[in-house]
Amino acid sequence: MISPAPLRHREIFPVAGLDLERAGTVSTEVQRVLRKLGVEPEVVRRAGIVCFEGEMNIVLYTPGGRIILLVYDDRVELIFSDQGPGIPDIELARQPGYSTAPNWARELGFGSGMGIPNMETNSDKLEIRSRPGEGTVIRAVILRRRNETEGSGEGPRP
Ligand SMILES: Nc1ncnc2c1ncn2[C@@H]1O[C@H](COP(=O)(O)OP(=O)(O)OP(=O)(O)O)[C@@H](O)[C@H]1O
Ligand SMILES: [Mg+2]
Repeated sequence: MISPAPLRHREIFPVAGLDLERAGTVSTEVQRVLRKLGVEPEVVRRAGIVCFEGEMNIVLYTPGGRIILLVYDDRVELIFSDQGPGIPDIELARQPGYSTAPNWARELGFGSGMGIPNMETNSDKLEIRSRPGEGTVIRAVILRRRNETEGSGEGPRP
């Protein structure tokens, strides 16, 4: 029997939708918390990317939501939930380049359709559940490979 890894830290961050002034603050804070907890730098880096993309999508496409950070001995989990319009075609939204970003967001440099693909690349597991008209829940799992010595293991991801 493999015993489940104990939960070390749990924190909930509200995300204000359509508030570009505060956009990105949660991912910065999540990285700070993870570093403080002694999480491996590579895991902090990946969690920061995943968190930023999920946070930006809540900001750009929904009236608001929240991000739950869960830190276990063997993994970091980020759960994004919002009360937005939902994603009608999840497979399509996972495709690189697919975007419904409005012009005002494109003018700010968003809308490459790379956010969800980026979340996928930087997580070990990405689950997306959405119901049009109700909202979206995304769960990202980032494994901590503590047994690997620094510098060994995987190289940079493509
Ligand atoms: N939380 C969400 N609620 C509703 N729709 C979403 C949400 N997150 C993503 N989407 C939809 O999925 C599409 C793809 O998202 P993705 O993050 O990959 O690209 P983008 O936000 O359009 O561009 P980029 O992230 O590169 O700036 C979005 O354009 C939007 O239509
Ligand atoms: Mg995006």
